[in-house]
Amino acid sequence: MLIKIAKPSDARESDVTPREIFLNRRSFMAAAAAASGTTLLPAFANDARAALGDVTTNSKYAVPEMPTTFKAATTHNNFYEFGTGKMDPAENAHTLKPRPWSVEIAGHAAKTGTFDLDDILKPHALEERIYRLRCVEAWSMVIPWVGFPLADLIKRFEPTSKAKYVAFETLVDTEQMPLQTRPTLPWPYVEGLRMDEAMNPLTFLSVGIYGEELPNQNGAPIRLVVPWKYGFKSIKSIVKISFVEEQPSTTWNQQAPHEYGFYSNVNPEVDHPRWGQDRERRITGETGFKALFAPKVETLMFNGYADEVAQLYQGMDLRKNF
Ligand code: MTE
Repeated sequence: MLIKIAKPSDARESDVTPREIFLNRRSFMAAAAAASGTTLLPAFANDARAALGDVTTNSKYAVPEMPTTFKAATTHNNFYEFGTGKMDPAENAHTLKPRPWSVEIAGHAAKTGTFDLDDILKPHALEERIYRLRCVEAWSMVIPWVGFPLADLIKRFEPTSKAKYVAFETLVDTEQMPLQTRPTLPWPYVEGLRMDEAMNPLTFLSVGIYGEELPNQNGAPIRLVVPWKYGFKSIKSIVKISFVEEQPSTTWNQQAPHEYGFYSNVNPEVDHPRWGQDRERRITGETGFKALFAPKVETLMFNGYADEVAQLYQGMDLRKNF
């Protein structure tokens, strides 16, 4: 059986998973675990996360699917600074110190400089959005992200007309990220967006998931979430944002240019050279029989966000600009 994933715009109010359900699912599991004398979560990185204070639910960005469990979302990660295995980041990212944290704003903008993250965050009201994120490896998750639109931050720093792209960099620090002594990837991990992609209302800077601060393995203390693009565009643990004139270099494009392009829009019609991209395994957090026999789901153009972003690519050949 093929499950068709509806677009966000297809969601009826009654279809949308209320926030309480996934939060309750977590407390229900915690209570059950406590009653049985077991621990809900392994003692992974950054277990003692703080609540984020006032967060408004933005119901415009909800999806009909039940969110992935917190446990699955925090134990199946890609964060090569902490290892290449899916469970490595959860096991190793405890060495990352998300505070104090500075972010440099550089390039063609009226306001630039290095700022303490908390000063950067101060003017932004936090909201929660449930987005699908699909990895190029053909698995996907549904996650309640907390953060604010990247566009709001960009406007504050007043980029000039020379700013055609926005470039992002992850921390390089071999004490906090000891595996950066190995050349798994060229460090720092870098990513970029065209200015109109960066300004699109969907593009989100996230500081939390499931109502709490980002666990280290998910990209603490601040990461990008670009839900219509393959997951590798969603760069983690950002320390620098630059407004640049030329298309910036990106890590996976440097690593394998024939496999990973600059745009990396989710596109079921363009195969990865080594596998198809028209289906995906939805990681729900279900275990056992249910997980084993869960059918793959159809991948939608722009990951189901075509109404919001297709106009950004009008007239472009998406096979060439993959
Ligand atoms: N950012 C950095 N700095 N390092 C990485 O290895 N992996 C990317 C992206 N951001 C990565 C990164 C990839 S391949 C994916 S699929 C997503 O993070 C995974 O995000 P998640 O672990 O929160 O699901």
